[in-house]
Amino acid sequence: MKLLVTGGAGFIGSVVTRMLLDAGHRVTVLDDLRTGHRAALAPDATHVDLPVHEAAQVLTPDAGYDAVLHFAALIAAGESMVHPERYWHANTVSSIALIDAVRAARVPRMVFSSTAAVYGNPVELPIPETAVKAPANTYGATKLAVDLVLTSEATAHDLAAVSLRYFNVAGAYLRDGLAIGERHDPETHLIPIALDVAAGRREKLQLFGDDYPTVDGTCVRDYIHVEDLARAHLLALTAAVPGRHRIYNLGNGSGFTNRQVVDVVREVTGHPLPVEIAPRRDGDPAELVASSALARQELGWVPEKPTLADMVGDAWAFYRTHVLGQS
Ligand SMILES: NC(=O)c1ccc[n+]([C@@H]2O[C@H](COP(=O)([O-])OP(=O)(O)OC[C@H]3O[C@@H](n4cnc5c(N)ncnc54)[C@H](O)[C@@H]3O)[C@@H](O)[C@H]2O)c1
Repeated sequence: MKLLVTGGAGFIGSVVTRMLLDAGHRVTVLDDLRTGHRAALAPDATHVDLPVHEAAQVLTPDAGYDAVLHFAALIAAGESMVHPERYWHANTVSSIALIDAVRAARVPRMVFSSTAAVYGNPVELPIPETAVKAPANTYGATKLAVDLVLTSEATAHDLAAVSLRYFNVAGAYLRDGLAIGERHDPETHLIPIALDVAAGRREKLQLFGDDYPTVDGTCVRDYIHVEDLARAHLLALTAAVPGRHRIYNLGNGSGFTNRQVVDVVREVTGHPLPVEIAPRRDGDPAELVASSALARQELGWVPEKPTLADMVGDAWAFYRTHVLGQS
């Protein structure tokens, strides 16, 4: 297939791009590098340095794209509460412009990176796709808005649309000497921050709250290996059906507490990891765990690297070579 990948210089988009290319697809990456990394661009993909809202320059009616995979977004939930307008523009307004371009160019399929943040504070666990959607932050709201646009687009204009709602994505893609991992700036994700502390690049790790109703009082989150997540995108591309918007949660279905993550980071790195308990953060649910039963059933998706040891081990291998510069 001829594919356009937005956000292909970011963490997840660059891993999916690599796997699409290895599967024999032709890929154009559209990414203006606002938070991505030039080094993460696949050398055998074409790179177009444009913002998403200008995608129509690439998605022309005679360009012949078979699908768009849309990863590009701003992703920091905390920042989205301070600068919501940036998130509505980058995530929602831009996505609507992209969907307009998809329609005008008659691209038949689209796969969208949605998020667990659309659910907010869950009333049922594990969370199914049918759960109440009540985002606790603007980031989640901007993503939910795009999901709604895709539903009406599929129904009215026959688009084959798939939204994949990721829970916490972790790990790194390691293959044949290549390592692609997580490098957000500022970093807001627990595992890379914990690796920074273990490597001595940050003084301590703050855990927000230890009085939640969980086994050890810290929050429970569902982690998914980026390689497992990426495979789901390849499956979604072939499972997309014209006129339907399919939505799948992607997580392991078993959560880990923040303290369990800390313990595994200590074990994997062999370094001490000083922890400070800070007050709870507003809008942080005690537990977020996905039901991915639908993805397993309809896409035939099965996670191959479900353990924290797999995820932290691969993230640490990437961190040592690409952040610490060790061989
Ligand atoms: N990382 C996670 O744990 C997680 C969890 C749930 C959902 N997601 C979703 O997955 C997607 C990818 O996340 P990531 O962790 O790879 O993020 P990332 O920040 O590493 O990558 C995002 C990429 O998109 C590009 N980009 C952003 N806005 C753009 C725009 N308007 N025009 C052009 N390029 C733009 C950036 O330059 C960057 O390369 C996002 O849509 C995010 O909401 C991520």
